[in-house]
Amino acid sequence: MKKNNSRFPKWLDNAVFYEIYPQSFLDTNADGIGDFQGIIQKLDYVKSLGCTAIWMNPCFESPFGDAGYDVSDYYRVAKRYGTNEDLKHLFEEAHRRGMHVLLDLVPGHTSVAHPWFQQSMKAEKNEFTDRYVWTDSIWESPDGYASLRGISDRDGSCMVNFFSHQPALNYGYYRPDPKKKWQQPMDADGPQATLQTMKDVMRFWLKMGCDGFRVDMAGSLVKGDPDGKGTIRLWQNVRAFLDQEFPDAAMISEWGEPDKSLLGGFHMDFLLHFGPSHYNDLFRCEHPFFSGNGDASAFVKKYLESYEKSGRKGLICIPSGNHDMDRLARTISGVHQKIAFAFLLSMPGAPFIYYGDEIGMCYVEGVTSVEGGYGRTGSRSPMQWDDALNAGFSSAPASELYVPLDPDPKRPNVKTQTEDPDSLWHEIQRLISIRMEHPALQSKGEIQFIQAKKNTYPLVYLRTAGQESILVVLNPSDREVSFSFDGSLGECIYSLGGKTKMKNGQVTIPARSASYHICN
Ligand code: GLC
Ligand code: CA
Repeated sequence: MKKNNSRFPKWLDNAVFYEIYPQSFLDTNADGIGDFQGIIQKLDYVKSLGCTAIWMNPCFESPFGDAGYDVSDYYRVAKRYGTNEDLKHLFEEAHRRGMHVLLDLVPGHTSVAHPWFQQSMKAEKNEFTDRYVWTDSIWESPDGYASLRGISDRDGSCMVNFFSHQPALNYGYYRPDPKKKWQQPMDADGPQATLQTMKDVMRFWLKMGCDGFRVDMAGSLVKGDPDGKGTIRLWQNVRAFLDQEFPDAAMISEWGEPDKSLLGGFHMDFLLHFGPSHYNDLFRCEHPFFSGNGDASAFVKKYLESYEKSGRKGLICIPSGNHDMDRLARTISGVHQKIAFAFLLSMPGAPFIYYGDEIGMCYVEGVTSVEGGYGRTGSRSPMQWDDALNAGFSSAPASELYVPLDPDPKRPNVKTQTEDPDSLWHEIQRLISIRMEHPALQSKGEIQFIQAKKNTYPLVYLRTAGQESILVVLNPSDREVSFSFDGSLGECIYSLGGKTKMKNGQVTIPARSASYHICN
């Protein structure tokens, strides 16, 4: 096998990301929708929390049937956010503060409104005929996928990648069925042209100053590829291109299977609410571990499997939430949120904080779907800055806001939390600053689980880098608990909820507590 000479951007070693859903962050021109200018104005805020990098959801031209994950022009930002120049300015302002910005690349599908698809629907052959996955008769649909049928002069059904208005771009089939001529091999002209075009898109934004991409549905590109082998090969090809032209570009996949994505050359992969990771055993199930009455053992087992299989080539990233899942605060509240962050900010990989999770923003129940959000809409409500009009998000009339605000009169906001030293906001700021001072707690420090038994508290692990070892002890349960440990506990560098005691190799910790101990 080829030796892996890929660069690993140095800044990822201690990166802490902040995810911005641009629609809902800050509106500066009173149209009810967030914009680039709003993000620029709040860069100092993001930095003050301790975050070093931003992932922004798609901001490109789109009919917004899926909040922008239905792109109609990959080279132009949507007017409602500003201009390409404004986005460039955002990159510059972030860089001036030592921060980095990842854009969201959606390579798996476009909007039906994309001119490529309009061309691809035509009966006569043209440059875009093979840009999407089409069967050669409308009476045949691709196996296992929904399809668009009866909407074109072209005779054929077009494969759908997600919603019905998101036709699948054609990167070919891993093992095309010889009886189905329309299944093209990965190296056929159509799939190759799609791949080249996607590289052009990446080149365009990287040249403008973006620092890399979060890649949407990164595992979905090659079809008929249940083990991901073709898709891995495709991403290795992209990696080779980036290594040559943009060796510092950082890549994170929405894949959820780090053993595959990291092999494909991604620097990072997310653990997600879907797929095999058991991520939501911790945060969002009937009895989440961090609510104090759950189980982390299946998560730890799967985590270690991925950690070993990925050969530690890249980072496994655990987000606090994202625009697709329920807000953390829907299932985890009060001190349990702080303990959950003591976990998120002490695990290997780069942590991702979803905007508003730092103040415990709530899932807004019962809102009507906006831009294809459906149940996800409640996690996409406007950021709550202060107690001014519309929580300081916008000066538009409340009825014109992108998504209604959390109507709770006691909704949290940034102003009160930054003024209160005991707030979740300050806890997170403290946790990030501790992480920044200790390489053992950062992206590449090793992890060894000391206790992660079934239905047992606390969760205990040791993080190590060079000479430094730090023991992390997390007890969200309502009772004092203990575990045996054959090392010695040094200075306590973080403590929440009371003191840790050690006697004859038994460590005892209070109910609802979290702590980090130097352990060299
Ligand atoms: C990803 C995005 C999600 C989007 C979907 C289709 O899962 O995170 O928001 O709807 O892909 O692009
Ligand atoms: Ca606006």
